Amino acid sequence: MKRIYLDYAATTPTHPEVVKAMLPYFTDAFGNPSTIYSYGLEAKGAVEQARSKVAELIGARGEEITFTSGGTEADNFAIMGVAYANENKGNHIITTLIEHAAVVNTCKFLERRGFNITHLPVDEYGLVTPDDVRRAITDKTVLISVMHANNEIGTIEPIAEIGKIAKEAGIYFHTDAVQTTGHLPIDVDQLGVDLLSMAGHRLYGPKGVGGLYIRRGTKLLPFMHGGEQERWRRASTENVPGIVGFGRAAELARQEMGQEAERLTYLRDKLIKGLLERIDHTRLNGHPIKRLPNNVNISVDFVEGEAMLLNLDLEGICAATGSACASSSLSPSHVLLAIGLPPEQAHGSIRFSLGKWTTEEEIGRVLEVLPRIVAKLRAMSPLVKTGK
Ligand SMILES: Cc1ncc(COP(=O)(O)O)c(C=O)c1O
Repeated sequence: MKRIYLDYAATTPTHPEVVKAMLPYFTDAFGNPSTIYSYGLEAKGAVEQARSKVAELIGARGEEITFTSGGTEADNFAIMGVAYANENKGNHIITTLIEHAAVVNTCKFLERRGFNITHLPVDEYGLVTPDDVRRAITDKTVLISVMHANNEIGTIEPIAEIGKIAKEAGIYFHTDAVQTTGHLPIDVDQLGVDLLSMAGHRLYGPKGVGGLYIRRGTKLLPFMHGGEQERWRRASTENVPGIVGFGRAAELARQEMGQEAERLTYLRDKLIKGLLERIDHTRLNGHPIKRLPNNVNISVDFVEGEAMLLNLDLEGICAATGSACASSSLSPSHVLLAIGLPPEQAHGSIRFSLGKWTTEEEIGRVLEVLPRIVAKLRAMSPLVKTGK
């Protein structure tokens, strides 16, 4: 059976061009970038080239990019780095109720250590209200962290508007752009962000590499202490093949993004429309327009998301429930609860995320298979009879 992969928000396959670019750095060009002989210089050159490519993708300067082990580390670095470097100014952080666990749990960690965290609510589409951000600011606020687009429901947040508010107030502004880098045009100046998190494996690069954009002049503590790599900001010998792969992926994304977004938006809308038409008692989660081009998230009444997922898997279709990175969790998604879904509807949600190798034929297959699965599950469900 040919498998259909529709979980690109969890991770993407590595682009063959990216693999090709990485391979020499495992074998011939394996040097440590900190050494001063030819092997080292070759590796250092490759890392710096990749840095420029990643910077170019988001309108930044090379020296403003610090490579990390992924999106999680970039989020931890941004939030803890700013919090601890600016403790003399204050201990208040503003974030939202729909952030990824990498932000949620970093904030929780800080809360246990005396920081005050404000969690802003979102509307029924998952949008943060910029005025809420403005109102939450106090003279102790040191950081605002609002994600660029949500990984579960795909809603794109008004980052540029929040950026203006942060700038006026003189407060650092971080955005988790793991789901948008390489997929939506990003210009850090236009967005008004001081820190921006990225992950290589979300844009057809390898896993285990990511980056944090740090605007020049931003005061933050280094994340890893040790050697002088990454301009003293993140010690440890660089993951040269990974970084090279991330750079190549960024370069490809820049070339392909516009056309790809158009193609995916068409497929996304076809899938949304088809599912809502063919299955009754369903709703689209997330914003209908301010939405990632590849995200489809629907709630289906009277069935469990996990049951849909497992039945789809039997048909060779891979999708997700809950968070991109934690589909094995059985608690209802905090994002779906935040947009006001009752727990039973949150449990009956499923996310399809499309990508470079998704075809119209595959979308057609989901439209044929899922209504059948839902009908079968509903026929067995006691929830249908009680109407809960
Ligand atoms: C919005 C968001 N932030 C952070 C992460 C964590 O990234 P990583 O798993 O590369 O550490 C993810 C994972 O996909 C994500 O979707």
